Amino acid sequence: MTVVKSTLPDDARRVACDALQETLVDLLGLSLIGKQAHWNIVGPRFRSIHLQLDEVVATARAHSDTVAERAAALGVPPDGRPETIAAGFTLPAPKEGWVRDSEVVQVMVETLEAAIGRLRERIEATERPDPVTQDLLIDITGDLEKQRWMFDAENFPREE
Ligand SMILES: [Fe+2]
Repeated sequence: MTVVKSTLPDDARRVACDALQETLVDLLGLSLIGKQAHWNIVGPRFRSIHLQLDEVVATARAHSDTVAERAAALGVPPDGRPETIAAGFTLPAPKEGWVRDSEVVQVMVETLEAAIGRLRERIEATERPDPVTQDLLIDITGDLEKQRWMFDAENFPREE
């Protein structure tokens, strides 16, 4: 049964809404990870990274709303239920319990890089089916790349 009628043909809508749903899962998961690290970080760089993590959370939450509403606008109901996030989230995440500041920085770089890599694949996939969705994904990627840069800069000199 069609509730909200899409402005896209079926094939294009499927590609766009799959990309949006996968992005929704990544962003909601990222917002949870960001808070987990925000609460559990320990070490001499606690304060700056604690605050920076809330920037990631705010970015992820704001964009999760945008992608969910884009899916709805295309006639596909977004799925942001906890069980859906738990089942679909595959990005790197901090371990349970207290996490050292340097480890938080490392895991956030890895998480953001993984999220960005997946977004770039979706940017390619949506180019023809729906450039409007592609435009949203490009915008999100730019913001996550900015966050990745700031954590990567925190990581210098690298602990290798
Ligand atoms: Fe807080």
